[in-house]
Amino acid sequence: MSDADTTFRLIYRSHSTIPKESRQTVLANIFDVARSNNKKAGITGALLVTDHWFAQALEGDEATVTALYQRISEDTRHDQVAIVESGTVDVRAFSRWSMAQVSKSGRADIPLHDVGGRIHSAAGRPLTAGESAMLKQMRNVIGADAV
Ligand SMILES: Cc1cc2nc3c(=O)[nH]c(=O)nc-3n(C[C@H](O)[C@H](O)[C@H](O)COP(=O)(O)O)c2cc1C
Repeated sequence: MSDADTTFRLIYRSHSTIPKESRQTVLANIFDVARSNNKKAGITGALLVTDHWFAQALEGDEATVTALYQRISEDTRHDQVAIVESGTVDVRAFSRWSMAQVSKSGRADIPLHDVGGRIHSAAGRPLTAGESAMLKQMRNVIGADAV
C-alpha cells in the first residue's frame, strides 16, 4: 500500500465555549466552513455536538489531518482540546460525510436517540458497523449522560 492510500484518523474531544444564545448560528457556520474545506482537502469525519462538549473524528491524509487539527485546536469557540486517539486505519468510518453532524437537534445527519444507551440512525439511513463503532467511542469520550 502506498502512502497515498493510507488513511489517518484523529479523534479529539473539546469543551464548547459557544454561548447558548448563538449556538445554532455558530454551529451552522462551523459546519458550512468545515464541509466546504474538508471536501476540497479529501477529509471525512463526524462532529458529535452536545450542549457543552464536542467529539470529532477527522479522516484523511496524515499531513492534511494533522494540519487541520492544529488549526481547529486554535479555534476560540472551544477549549480543553485533547486528542483521544490518532493513527492509521484500513478504511474510513465516515466516507459518506465531509463532516457529519451528530446531535440531538433537528439538523443532525445522525440523530442520537437514547434508546437503551445505543445510537440509532436517521430513518432510512442505517449506520454502517464502522460508523456505529466510532460513534460509540466518541460518545463514551464525552460521557453518554451528556448526550
Ligand atoms: C468544534 C469545531 C470543529 C471544526 N471542524 C472543522 C473541520 O472539520 N474542518 C474545517 O475546515 N474547519 C473546522 N473548524 C473550523 C476551524 O477551526 C477554522 O475556523 C476554519 O477551518 C477556518 O477556515 P477558513 O480558513 O476557510 O476560514 C472547526 C471548528 C470547531 C470549533
